[in-house]
Amino acid sequence: MSQSSPCILVIFGASGDLTKRKLVPALFDLYRQKLLPERFAVLGVSRSEYSDDAFRTYMLENVRKYHNGDGLDKALLKRFIAHLYYQAIDTNDAAAYATLKTRLDDLNDERQTRGNYIYYLSTPPSLYDKIPRYLGAHDLQVQGEGQGWKRLIIEKPFGYDLASAGALNRTIQQIFGEEQIYRIDHYLGKETVQNMLVFRFSNGIFEPLWNRNYIHHVEITAAEFIGVENRGRYYDHSGALRDMVQNHLMQVLGMVAMEPPSRISATGVRNETVKVFDALRVYRPEEVSRYVVRGQYTASTVRGEAIPGYREEADIPADSRTETFVAVKAFIDNWRWGGVPFFIRTGKRLPTRVTEVVIHFKKTPHHLFTENDQCDVSCNQLILRIQPDEGILVKFGMKLPGAGFQIRNVNMDFHYSDLTDAYIPSAYERLLLDCILGDATLYARADAVEAGWKFVDPILRAWQERPEIQIFGYPAGTWGPRETQALFDEPGDDWRYPCANLANDGEYCEL
Ligand code: BG6
Repeated sequence: MSQSSPCILVIFGASGDLTKRKLVPALFDLYRQKLLPERFAVLGVSRSEYSDDAFRTYMLENVRKYHNGDGLDKALLKRFIAHLYYQAIDTNDAAAYATLKTRLDDLNDERQTRGNYIYYLSTPPSLYDKIPRYLGAHDLQVQGEGQGWKRLIIEKPFGYDLASAGALNRTIQQIFGEEQIYRIDHYLGKETVQNMLVFRFSNGIFEPLWNRNYIHHVEITAAEFIGVENRGRYYDHSGALRDMVQNHLMQVLGMVAMEPPSRISATGVRNETVKVFDALRVYRPEEVSRYVVRGQYTASTVRGEAIPGYREEADIPADSRTETFVAVKAFIDNWRWGGVPFFIRTGKRLPTRVTEVVIHFKKTPHHLFTENDQCDVSCNQLILRIQPDEGILVKFGMKLPGAGFQIRNVNMDFHYSDLTDAYIPSAYERLLLDCILGDATLYARADAVEAGWKFVDPILRAWQERPEIQIFGYPAGTWGPRETQALFDEPGDDWRYPCANLANDGEYCEL
């Protein structure tokens, strides 16, 4: 691992949820593992008034609650907390950045951080173009000989559609160079997502099969049991396609489908990801209902508990047509993947929380042991389980002992939890450390974000402009609208259901 240099991490939006639940606990976990530079400081910035001490006390509680490792060394936590500082400014006010500059200069002197600053935008997206401009107005982005380096991390959502994502890229790039910009997608920080690269490109046995000759179709599922919780206001303007597909699931798709990069570097890996996104078939408005199914959860009873429908949740209009579920049949029109459908689905209030990729291999060309040519025993599946119970599963047919040739599908199963000495870092630990080290491999590049929007944008526009495209209600605790099954053309093909539906009541309906 390269040596991390001294630096200050400036967190804009420091009084928000992400800072207390993810960012500061992840920094503590890095500190605990001695992965942070000796000279570092965190400067929380937001409008709320805190003293350094009040901010430290508040964060102490949250590190205790949300840190990732086992046990907690109190003395260590105390030493870590002393690296935290706080500055209240109105981030909407350009003049206030002079105060920030003075504070940074002081802190830089105190902590000897050589002018190396990371600005982390964990604010509402409406500030994503303002903060970089205001930083620029005070030369806070300037780097070079004697001035250290400057980096900018931007949280999702990056843009609301293709046009706004492009505009945001252009605004930020007027101030920061692309090599200074780190667009975060926490899915890329997940161990199991990165392991897809290792699995594919460090094992000789899988890659030769990884193409249209052997793979029938691919499923990518990100199911959540939770509903919109207290994020109704944000979510109703977003919906599942923007919230999960445009970013997280596109990145997973990139890992599954990319060509081997010539080297593992920010340029090598990201060049290959962009090629996948560029090759995605873009749907015309009249094709959208054939390839995309959207749904919204309705009220039901799960394990005896009444679950409200989406429209009954706080801050959700009673006639909302925002999708809480989406399933897409996508095609990557290139040599490797020509004709192989990628079925991507995600939803809130599904029966369980699971994110997985299922590679469905083609059936054997001749059926020696079964009467029919259905896939039940003759098609192999490879399941890359991203979370929870991270692992890899291969399903294959085996002869049942005894007379004749009866076949049963069995599993070869690897669980990360079997590696007793392995610590799985949180996504934010990995990504924050990479940024400190100046490695942008696991961050999204401008062209990739825009290429992703090019695929998603026409679907969103069709939904908006064509009210006749249906949105289907599905009872909370079920696997989404029944119509998702219709995305499969071949009889017998269906989604993998990692567990059964949890609700027997509730309404499947058209909304
Ligand atoms: C976030 C979405 O980006 O990812 C949430 O905004 C979603 O709606 C979350 O719940 C899922 O992340 P994870 O790591 O729990 O799969």
